[in-house]
Amino acid sequence: MKGFDPRTSFGYEVSKRYDDEVRGDEEETVAFLAGLADGRDALELAVGTGRIALPLTRAGVRVDGIELSPDMADRLREKPDGDRIDVTMGDMSRVTTGRTYGLVYLVYNTIGNLLTQDDQVRCFENAARHLADDGVFVVECRIPTAPARPGHQYVDPEQIEVDEVGLDVCRYDPVTQVLDENHVRIRADGITFSPIRLRLAYPPEFDLMARIAGLRLRERWGGWEREPYTARSWRHVSVYERGRHGDQAARAI
Ligand SMILES: C[S@@+](CC[C@H](N)C(=O)[O-])C[C@H]1O[C@@H](n2cnc3c(N)ncnc32)[C@H](O)[C@@H]1O
Repeated sequence: MKGFDPRTSFGYEVSKRYDDEVRGDEEETVAFLAGLADGRDALELAVGTGRIALPLTRAGVRVDGIELSPDMADRLREKPDGDRIDVTMGDMSRVTTGRTYGLVYLVYNTIGNLLTQDDQVRCFENAARHLADDGVFVVECRIPTAPARPGHQYVDPEQIEVDEVGLDVCRYDPVTQVLDENHVRIRADGITFSPIRLRLAYPPEFDLMARIAGLRLRERWGGWEREPYTARSWRHVSVYERGRHGDQAARAI
């Protein structure tokens, strides 16, 4: 996608309308994460506008965040209870909060915002660095579909109304595993573009990244309600813990 600037993916305009689109799985996500936190503090990588961090805080978990976009972090701080979440600004694959947590989590396909395998491995290493000895790292991500699409490019209708159409316009590069995607919204009063680039990976690649970071897969589900993970699952919720039996141990902070 020529001229793509990752900073504008979650810049001011996007941050203003980010919460307009309700994903609808917040309650299950919070219940799952609160159970794993089990009274311990949590760190959300790429905390965004606090879609999950805020209800998790209200459920009794102390949550810190790491976030790259000042605009997304501003939207979080403007919300009720936004001041209860400490946000460290920076790249989730590199920046540190200087302490460890019982739970570190990275949801909503956001591992894909790191566009190289090296950066995604670094992110697992950074998560491991923030884990208490018995802590867990949770990753939620869609199972890639683009690699199987004919010609690796497609347009999917997302919304078809009388006065509004939403299109998901995509092109996938199997060499880099990067998907160029633009959510295009066409209305009588104009067209809006929401471009994003994502590096797609299947769960086994993430499991190897975890091993490199000294972690191992503890459990994998097909959703937040612990649906079984099967060939039909459209997403995975993967729970990693510190490796044992000779896995390289990532150094805690
Ligand atoms: C799809 S949103 C998810 C936000 C939040 N986790 C949620 O579930 O609503 C992706 C977020 O990742 C942030 N982000 C993208 N790349 C990042 C990076 N390298 N380090 C930290 N945050 C990043 C974006 O600014 C944005 O807030």
